[in-house]
Amino acid sequence: MSGDARKRAEGLSYLTGFGNEHASEAVPGALPEGRNAPQRAPLGLYAEQLSGAAFTEPRAHNRRSWLYRIRPSAAHPRFTRTANGSIRTAPFTEAVPDPNRLRWNPLPEPAAGTDFLAGLWTLGGNGDATQRAGMAVHLYHANASMERVFSDADGELLIVPERGGLLLHTEFGRLHVEPAHVALIPRGVRFRVELLDESARGYVCENYGAPFRLPDLGPIGANGLANARDFRAPVAAYEDVEGPVEVVNKFCGNLWTATYDHSPLDVVAWHGNHVPYVYDLRRFNVIGSISYDHPDPSIFTVLTSPSDTPGLAGVDFVVFAPRWLVGEDTFRPPYFHRNVMTEYMGLIEGAYDAKAEGFVPGGGSLHNMMSAHGPDRETFERASAAELKPQKIDDGLAFMFETRWPLTLTPDAAGADHLQRAYDDVWRGLTRNFRI
Ligand SMILES: [Fe+2]
Repeated sequence: MSGDARKRAEGLSYLTGFGNEHASEAVPGALPEGRNAPQRAPLGLYAEQLSGAAFTEPRAHNRRSWLYRIRPSAAHPRFTRTANGSIRTAPFTEAVPDPNRLRWNPLPEPAAGTDFLAGLWTLGGNGDATQRAGMAVHLYHANASMERVFSDADGELLIVPERGGLLLHTEFGRLHVEPAHVALIPRGVRFRVELLDESARGYVCENYGAPFRLPDLGPIGANGLANARDFRAPVAAYEDVEGPVEVVNKFCGNLWTATYDHSPLDVVAWHGNHVPYVYDLRRFNVIGSISYDHPDPSIFTVLTSPSDTPGLAGVDFVVFAPRWLVGEDTFRPPYFHRNVMTEYMGLIEGAYDAKAEGFVPGGGSLHNMMSAHGPDRETFERASAAELKPQKIDDGLAFMFETRWPLTLTPDAAGADHLQRAYDDVWRGLTRNFRI
């Protein structure tokens, strides 16, 4: 762990809303006043727009930032193909879609010198990256900081650390991310991952679709769930590096590489709303029932990527955060159900209240479209007999990527040694209790 690195990551500006404009400058006067592209940008910088939405999308959905940088991004050599490692991209066609309930243990230890990019391992996904629809589930396990710089043209990256702190050096500045935080790197934004501990492990949702945004709150009102003020953007910080820097670009499923003669993390000032951010999941304002039953887990939505159909998300990011359970005459753990949506769940720390064992931090479960799932036998029996006093669930932090399309595995995930081949057994022993 590097104490200096943790200290350097301090100083974040607060995002006050996703549709709003944010600005930061690393050098006073670097940000032009009044116009985006003056005839000569301040301090000899180049002005460059980064568009995360079509120019013409409605204002509420439009995403773009203006970057004031030492060199324009256009100043780069030709990219050439490089190995994709364990990264795969939609459409996922190599394996047959599997209706079974599936669960994995954490990723095995990586070889020495594995950086974040080399440590990415794709579990599966849906949609088609070239159509900007769908998502992929990746896990990562790394033990070295990146020397190279990465950007993903195929989608935004929601990084969910489970073990080890990360310092994300982005074009917009640095983001310090620890387990129980999530970070988002927008589509096309270049970044480098520095490890703050000996190793790092976690999950990534690559979202090919519409950028994540806060869900509407409806009758909940103006406050609650994830509050906009808790999403923090970096303060502008730049690298003034002359010399070879490898830049890897993910484009339509393949990795391409080029060696620049400078660091592309050379943005001295920026303004806009297509920006990286970090969010502390412990700030999630959990809302639930105070009478009986409990709401569907959509009540725990942190971020949503809407599709063309209102209410039908390409992918939702949902957190199961510490909360009180007070429902009267209620089966309190998550109920048995089948869902047209597909659910990938991971565990950041502790335990999850629907499973007695086997679902461990760093592991994950997949309940594909219409697969039947719910509490295991032990949890069912305990919850059915429990005395229903107010109860605090505070020993775990689980999350879900919930997507409208079924998820197809990569062959790596389908045949992984760390796939739990006896997962179905957790529902064994749910014997008949029916009597007349
Ligand atoms: Fe479920």
